[in-house]
Amino acid sequence: MTERIVRVLDSFGDDRTVQTSTDIARRTGLPSSTAHRIVGDLVAAGLLERDEQGRVRLGMRLWELALRGSRALRLRQAALPHMERVQAQIREHTQLAVLEHEEALFLERLSHPEAGANITRIAGRLPLNASSSGLVLLAHADPEIRERILHGHLEAVSPETVTDAETLRALLASIRRRGHVIAPGSIEAVSTGVAVPVRDHGQVIAALSVVLPRAAATTPAVNALTSAAGAIEQDLRSAP
Ligand code: PHB
Repeated sequence: MTERIVRVLDSFGDDRTVQTSTDIARRTGLPSSTAHRIVGDLVAAGLLERDEQGRVRLGMRLWELALRGSRALRLRQAALPHMERVQAQIREHTQLAVLEHEEALFLERLSHPEAGANITRIAGRLPLNASSSGLVLLAHADPEIRERILHGHLEAVSPETVTDAETLRALLASIRRRGHVIAPGSIEAVSTGVAVPVRDHGQVIAALSVVLPRAAATTPAVNALTSAAGAIEQDLRSAP
């Protein structure tokens, strides 16, 4: 039963936020009657919400439960004031990401009205070898995960994404040495991602990044991110 409920919830995606029970049955491969019954139960529990046309979306209650006491919330709360400072200083998108199932999962993103292009979405994911946040997370990942990624298929998001395993291995070593990454064009030709690690009790738990227009200077971003990461670490130490 639990597995079927997870399949129903998992059938919602970034580009598929509203569905009918029939869509859900087709996408999950569940018999139509089963899909209809599970959807009905989830609506009754508030985990899904039904609109006037009878279609459903993920419910607020699910969001509420997911955040309650989560590690993501503790991290986001510690990070937000410092992200705001970076964002005010650099005036470009500022993001916080964690490693989740071999991808970078974005917990927060602050934007600026005049900021440049940016494909990241809150609760969205990007490949580890492509985004600047992903590169930082991969550089500091458990060696077993790192090797698995390095030996697997390295997806190209743009023509400049690093997809050669040995080039990527050298890049990850340089990120560990330097304490930051500058990744021009690895997601989109028009932008440069800059990211630093965020530690909790010495362990890297997140990446803090900004997305700059390609021609922008990167040093102010590296400095702002490095000082914000240090301040977040200090706040995490005193947070329960
Ligand atoms: C990055 O983190 O490198 C990045 C993310 C989103 C973009 C561009 C760059 O749109």
